[in-house]
Amino acid sequence: MTRHLLTILDLSREEIEHLLARARELKALHHRGQNPTPLTGKTVAMIFDKPSTRTRVSFEAGIAQLGGSSIYLAPGQTQMSRNEPVADTARVLSRYVDGVVVRTFAQETVAELARHSTIPVINGLTDTHHPCQVLSDLMTMEERFGDLTGLKVAWVGDGNNMANSWITAAMHLDFALHLACPPGYEPDAAIVAQAQAQGARVYLGQDPIAAVAGAQVVNTDVWASMGQEEEAAARLEVFKPYQVNSQLMKNAPEAIVLHCLPAHRGEEITAEILDGPQSAVWDQAENRLHFQKALLEWLLG
Ligand code: CP
Ligand code: NVA
Repeated sequence: MTRHLLTILDLSREEIEHLLARARELKALHHRGQNPTPLTGKTVAMIFDKPSTRTRVSFEAGIAQLGGSSIYLAPGQTQMSRNEPVADTARVLSRYVDGVVVRTFAQETVAELARHSTIPVINGLTDTHHPCQVLSDLMTMEERFGDLTGLKVAWVGDGNNMANSWITAAMHLDFALHLACPPGYEPDAAIVAQAQAQGARVYLGQDPIAAVAGAQVVNTDVWASMGQEEEAAARLEVFKPYQVNSQLMKNAPEAIVLHCLPAHRGEEITAEILDGPQSAVWDQAENRLHFQKALLEWLLG
């Protein structure tokens, strides 16, 4: 059966643990200049309907390091932009390449691609999920804390794709997730309900101080995601009390700060915090490469 990564819920806890362990090994090998090449002769198509720095480059570099090659399909450059059905695209790509990474708007597009593909489909971000980012963030947390069990993870700001993926991660792993989002900007209600129904330690509120108090990890993200550019000005006002700054971080003096990037210094996070000693964002960005290599090796190798 072809496996896909559309959301973190496509993986079991054991599979996540395996991938995290392998990602650590691949990171060590990479730093010694000893990359294994399980993707030799394999090709990955990269369909991007939104901009990207990290996701595109970490996937393309990772594929090359594993011995494979990639084909980048920029926004508007496939026939899907001229209404060729997603299903037909999936059928054709399945005859040419060995895997697809896709960044787009609707989660349903990624799901439709996967339904009609005989090759693995990896979600490189949709409006609803960003699984590769959060899975590699778990790697960064493990590097800093050893074990995720018992950690308090805070999410401050928009209940966006990243927040949703954090909730799905909390369904599998033993950390508590405390979210503080302004009213009307909560994460996906169905995902929250699913997490709470299965007893995951996911707590949704509106108070950033309560969310970060005593946390080991404080997370934030942009206030207007890709595709929400027109709402940006209005959101600036709504989200002001949700800035991650030194005042807020007094409540979490031992925490690391994560941000998937790109960041807007002076909006969701101050320069002082992003560029300060609590920030783990550069390791976090690096770990995209290593985690995704583990994922590619597992799905395609
Ligand atoms: N964090 C992340 O996905 O960054 P890009 O948008 O640059 O890919
Ligand atoms: N929430 C952001 C994440 C960018 C990596 C967005 O979707 O634009």
